[in-house]
Amino acid sequence: MIEAENIVKSYNGEPCLRGVSLHVAAGEFLSVMGESGSGKSTLLEILAGVRRPDAGQVRVAGEDIGSLSSEALAKFRRTKIGVVYQNFRLISTLTAEDNIRLPLLLEKMPRAEVRRRVEETAELLRVSSSLKKYPGELSGGQQQRVALARALAYRPPVLFLDEPTGSLDSENSQNVLELLSRVNRAEGVTVVQITHSLEAAAYGSRILRIRDGEIRP
Ligand SMILES: Nc1ncnc2c1ncn2[C@@H]1O[C@H](COP(=O)(O)OP(=O)(O)O)[C@@H](O)[C@H]1O
Ligand SMILES: [Mg+2]
Repeated sequence: MIEAENIVKSYNGEPCLRGVSLHVAAGEFLSVMGESGSGKSTLLEILAGVRRPDAGQVRVAGEDIGSLSSEALAKFRRTKIGVVYQNFRLISTLTAEDNIRLPLLLEKMPRAEVRRRVEETAELLRVSSSLKKYPGELSGGQQQRVALARALAYRPPVLFLDEPTGSLDSENSQNVLELLSRVNRAEGVTVVQITHSLEAAAYGSRILRIRDGEIRP
């Protein structure tokens, strides 16, 4: 589902990723661990097509990301992948429901279908009772579950998460991680989670470590 070959990325001449190769099979739940500054977020952003590498190839869900036009890349990001960031990044002026709906409306999905997907996804992530609320009225754990619902509403085959529990307490973390496992097992979504917590990483089916811009076994 994900094939990254020899990804190289520097910032201002400072090497950040030094030739990272990574293969993730469909249905896998991969945890990537590493110290702060080891290049985890950069790797995730490159896999998600948010950032371009200096060298190397990335194929995700059958798409060679490097060869896509910016329009095709935007469509790829709306339909083939979901991304969840550490600090939720919900739109504060929209209700939870509108946050979840937005990517579907951008994709011009028919209204009835949008309604059905939002309902189903909210149920799956247990946020049905939060739909009319604004992000500021929700707890961190609820906000993260809404962010997950937004990422999954289109039913992308791949989900990327950057420290999804980094700003949650242990009870909320456990909740979010259990939901993630369920989404992975029940829906077959391929999951790549970045974390620096071994507890969180253990929810995955495989753990990779990154150090100084390289994958370590
Ligand atoms: N946009 C950027 N511009 C310059 N340097 C960056 C940028 N993003 C990340 N870096 C540097 O790249 C290194 C890896 O960062 P990052 O990928 O965020 O690692 P991690 O997520 O593991 O903490 C760090 O030294 C960071 O300062
Ligand atoms: Mg990071």
